[in-house]
Amino acid sequence: MRQRFWILGPALFLMALVISCGTKLNPNEIRIGEYGALTGAQATFGISTRDGIQLAVDEINASGGINGKTLKVILVDDQGKPEQAAVAVTKLITQDQVQVVLGEVASSLSLAAAPLCQERKVPMISPSSTNPKVTQVGDYIFRVCFIDPFQGQVMADFAMQQLSAKTAAILRDQKSDYSMGLADFFIKRFKEKGGSIVLDQSYVAGDVDFKSQLATLRGKTPDVIFVPGYYTEVGLIAKQARELGIKVPLLGGDGWESSKLFEIGGKALNECYFSTHYSSESTDPKVLDYVKKYRAKFGSVPDGLATLGYDAAGVLAEALKRAKSLSGADIRDAIAQTKSYAGVTGSISMNANRDAVKSAVVLKIENEKASYVTTVNP
Ligand code: PHE
Repeated sequence: MRQRFWILGPALFLMALVISCGTKLNPNEIRIGEYGALTGAQATFGISTRDGIQLAVDEINASGGINGKTLKVILVDDQGKPEQAAVAVTKLITQDQVQVVLGEVASSLSLAAAPLCQERKVPMISPSSTNPKVTQVGDYIFRVCFIDPFQGQVMADFAMQQLSAKTAAILRDQKSDYSMGLADFFIKRFKEKGGSIVLDQSYVAGDVDFKSQLATLRGKTPDVIFVPGYYTEVGLIAKQARELGIKVPLLGGDGWESSKLFEIGGKALNECYFSTHYSSESTDPKVLDYVKKYRAKFGSVPDGLATLGYDAAGVLAEALKRAKSLSGADIRDAIAQTKSYAGVTGSISMNANRDAVKSAVVLKIENEKASYVTTVNP
């Protein structure tokens, strides 16, 4: 499927180029493109990320901007669809002539658009795509979060050590690079440590009936079920599992992170656990200060997506200050040199693969609320 974008990409660029002729650019602004899902089944991902980025950008601009220039964010909704992500980024680069791109959340969407950024030498920072392949697209592609080999290991270890699990079943999303990869990394670690996988099943994002997979799964009596998907399907899976009398914990990764998860899954999610990037319950003064500012602006507690968006914008601003010029190559070099940036989600340094190496937190769900359990360092 990805191959189609390589053909579609150049055609879209040409189209957008024609439209862009005559666009006036303000020399006192640095143009940042952002693409994300503001509508569709992953809408809370894009909305939270947008809010986190906006908080950071407003703060930076209020304190004088970057070497006398103001940051301007141009945001495009990709509806959570890979094809639309490619269209969005093409528009941002050719029509809006952005100098750098922030996004996406979902790994499959970052993978759809990253080749376009790489090809045009426009640096891209994903706040939260965790599949390893994302930054492997090329030397213009970065992220400020940990990657899934680590996250899979964290949850496999948690299942075995904290929940004494010896057997696990998997239920993964076939169409999601994130879900497929994270399941593989979990399985690898779980087996290495002596556990066994009794069943490995799949679904496709958008499915609403998981009863046949769950009925098969019930017969295998696993100690835990690993469901590395996104919140919309996970909520439904939890509900239907309980309806079928399956009582064991469901475990997942950062894709569970959404207040909508609880609206969909309700009490069915009690005693379930997931790994993610940050806990709003932290008593770190940096987190407290950030949560207070976010609450004042948006009236809610920031989730991990918002916080990674905030940190991605912060890393970018700091790199822009250091960059030799605002050419793509110089911005790229400055981002690559990021060392010990003090983010709300932890200290951020770019390694040789343009990934950040950071700790993960595990949260437990109880009565429609996720609470902090533990932090795991890489
Ligand atoms: N890590 C997920 C992916 O790569 C995206 C995600 C990050 C979702 C953080 C929720 C919270 O697809």
